[in-house]
Amino acid sequence: MLWVRKYAPKNSYEIINQSDAIKKIKDFILNYRKYEKKALLLWGPPGVGKTCSVYAIAREFGYEVVELNASDVRAARNIHEKLDEAIKGKPFFHKGRIIFIDEVDGLAGKYDRGGASAIVNIIKESIWPVILAANDPWDPNLRKIREVCELVKFKELSNTEIFKALKKIASAEKLEVDDKVLWNLAERSQGDLRSAINDLQTLSGLKRRILIQDLAILGYREREIEIFKALGAMFKASTLSAAKNVFNNVDMDPEEIEGWIEENIANKYEDIRDIFEAYDWMSKARIFYGRIYVRQYWDLLKYYTAIMYGGVALAKSKQYEKFTKFRMPSYVRRLSRSKDIRERLENLLGDLSRKVHSSKKRVREVYINIVYGLIDKHPEVAKSYLRNLGLKEEEIDFIIQNLKSL
Ligand SMILES: Nc1ncnc2c1ncn2[C@@H]1O[C@H](COP(=O)(O)OP(=O)(O)O)[C@@H](O)[C@H]1O
Ligand SMILES: [Mg+2]
Repeated sequence: MLWVRKYAPKNSYEIINQSDAIKKIKDFILNYRKYEKKALLLWGPPGVGKTCSVYAIAREFGYEVVELNASDVRAARNIHEKLDEAIKGKPFFHKGRIIFIDEVDGLAGKYDRGGASAIVNIIKESIWPVILAANDPWDPNLRKIREVCELVKFKELSNTEIFKALKKIASAEKLEVDDKVLWNLAERSQGDLRSAINDLQTLSGLKRRILIQDLAILGYREREIEIFKALGAMFKASTLSAAKNVFNNVDMDPEEIEGWIEENIANKYEDIRDIFEAYDWMSKARIFYGRIYVRQYWDLLKYYTAIMYGGVALAKSKQYEKFTKFRMPSYVRRLSRSKDIRERLENLLGDLSRKVHSSKKRVREVYINIVYGLIDKHPEVAKSYLRNLGLKEEEIDFIIQNLKSL
């Protein structure tokens, strides 16, 4: 079982660092009829408790959560019986109901933009409180939806909070793991508790006793934390020397750092003029680098880095205080994508094992093996087999594409 599920908060008191948001959500669920806006839009970075808060509060109130997914939203363009029952019907076993549309930023732009109006319709028609969740509420696809929602912010979690949460899990699982390892996992997660827990589970599956060098298994290097920290400091710096010095402890060549800066300029800066100017300095630095290279004047490298770090840092017209989750350059990201795939496969296996009432191991050995045997010669049969197990088309495609990793 995935630990993020096993250790998901059972009630709202177990949710870390989101007390304002929790208060707001509770009040809305109890008094939504008095609210001017008909829905809440929970927003914030990934892995900070948006989804699990809705479920924890519902459980506390004895409410049921009816989660609408992409196909419900697609169907909502023409009112349809099942949806009508969801948003207007009465629950059998619960005191009340919450209509929940998770990761709405992914849905809203789909289906030739009909997605957003469909969601607005659901909000209008529902007799139950409607709650949505998204990472970025300023996504242009969400404009229509934002207008009818009250925004509720979820805060990023601090390294200390993540560390403590990991420590609890480690002791519940009786892991032998150093604080230093947990602290490193916390730093690396950048405020995302889900990814930190997943990383810990990955490590524990390989070894009972986890040492600092095992972090390498995650494709994790000390230097990655260093570069994240340094980027943060560089984008904040307001003098040339401050901007230059932040990279002193980073174990990377300036050419590699260039990739990281480039990837994150538009991520950190918001004003388009600041972004433009920062890129302008990047391109000047690149030209300068080209000349150094052609003439092999490596002594001049310090000017290349000064132009790059200083130019980008001083390009900003103001400080951007918002929390920024820095991204790896895309080529590095491609390498770590395989981890996301594994996680989704694990989730699907978990769903399947619940559906067929067997262990995941058995699902692998029996059900997935059957698909394996069929896929080359009879792909349609393999698909319909998975369909009969209750999987959706996109899930089936995903499994088939990644069959080798199962
Ligand atoms: N604030 C939090 N308090 C306690 N656990 C959390 C918190 N945020 C995340 N988690 C853990 O991480 C998992 C994923 O969180 P989730 O609610 O899905 O994040 P989000 O929806 O914000 O991306 C949860 O199941 C829980 O185990
Ligand atoms: Mg979520």
